[in-house]
Amino acid sequence: MKGILLAGGSGTRLSPMTLAASKQLLPVYDKPMIYYPLSTLMLAGIRDILVISTPADLPQFRRLLGDGKRLGLRIAYAEQPRPEGIAQAFLIGHDWIAGSPCALALGDNLIFADHLSDLLRRASARAQGATVFAYRVRDPERYGVVSFDAAGRAVDIVEKPAAPQSNWAVTGLYFYDARVSDFATRIRPSARGELEITDLNRLYLEDGSLEVERLGRGCAWLDAGTPDSLLQAATFVQTIQSRQGMLVGCPEEVAFRLGHIDADALRQHARSLGKTELGQMLADLADGHQA
Ligand code: G1P
Repeated sequence: MKGILLAGGSGTRLSPMTLAASKQLLPVYDKPMIYYPLSTLMLAGIRDILVISTPADLPQFRRLLGDGKRLGLRIAYAEQPRPEGIAQAFLIGHDWIAGSPCALALGDNLIFADHLSDLLRRASARAQGATVFAYRVRDPERYGVVSFDAAGRAVDIVEKPAAPQSNWAVTGLYFYDARVSDFATRIRPSARGELEITDLNRLYLEDGSLEVERLGRGCAWLDAGTPDSLLQAATFVQTIQSRQGMLVGCPEEVAFRLGHIDADALRQHARSLGKTELGQMLADLADGHQA
């Protein structure tokens, strides 16, 4: 399976921070925001990644991530000239996807859970259909919202409903089968002029092949799209890292744990981070001090 990392949009809700910088490159505690969804895709076992961003911001992502070799990945890049919707990623990425199954992670979404990689690997291993994740929130009207019947089956999915039928928001992490590019061509722009990811998910729902995994109590899903949620995400990462001494959303750590890179490569990377806490944690991991 391949994976798209979407880092487009103008980040207006974070203005003026985003006037001269891409939202998805803003810091979430000690790392650029995009590291978190990148780590999530890696934990799903994905090594072919397409980063999509605006023409103005794409060079910065290239500078940060390069060709991905350093992480044992193959990273390609493509432009989204205008913010015409999340589902447009599958039209922009059509040739790169080349008929394979493909996941999509939004560049401002952070998911943290025990056994997350098991959950992700199950989703990426499904040969037919799509898998999305639902998370209970207080303010569902800000998101795509999924409602369930008495048997717990997903029955409807609506983008930013004025009167939400449930509190279950759809997170910005999606797994699709090989039909995704074809399905994406059937979507038409919504009233706000965007190709909605919710419309793509609805096509899978109508096809009877949309799996909705509900993330429970022990999971954290944070989107870092507003000053408050950005601060919450940073505080969350800081709390886990300083209390447990375990890294959250660190692609180098994930690459090492998955065996994409060896201890020497990790040590070299740790050195390049100088005297930072993050560099020290990676050096300890390379030396075997962190289980
Ligand atoms: C987008 C999607 C929405 C999803 C959300 C997750 O919203 O359209 O369905 O629930 O991401 O972060 P946006 O961030 O574009 O408002």
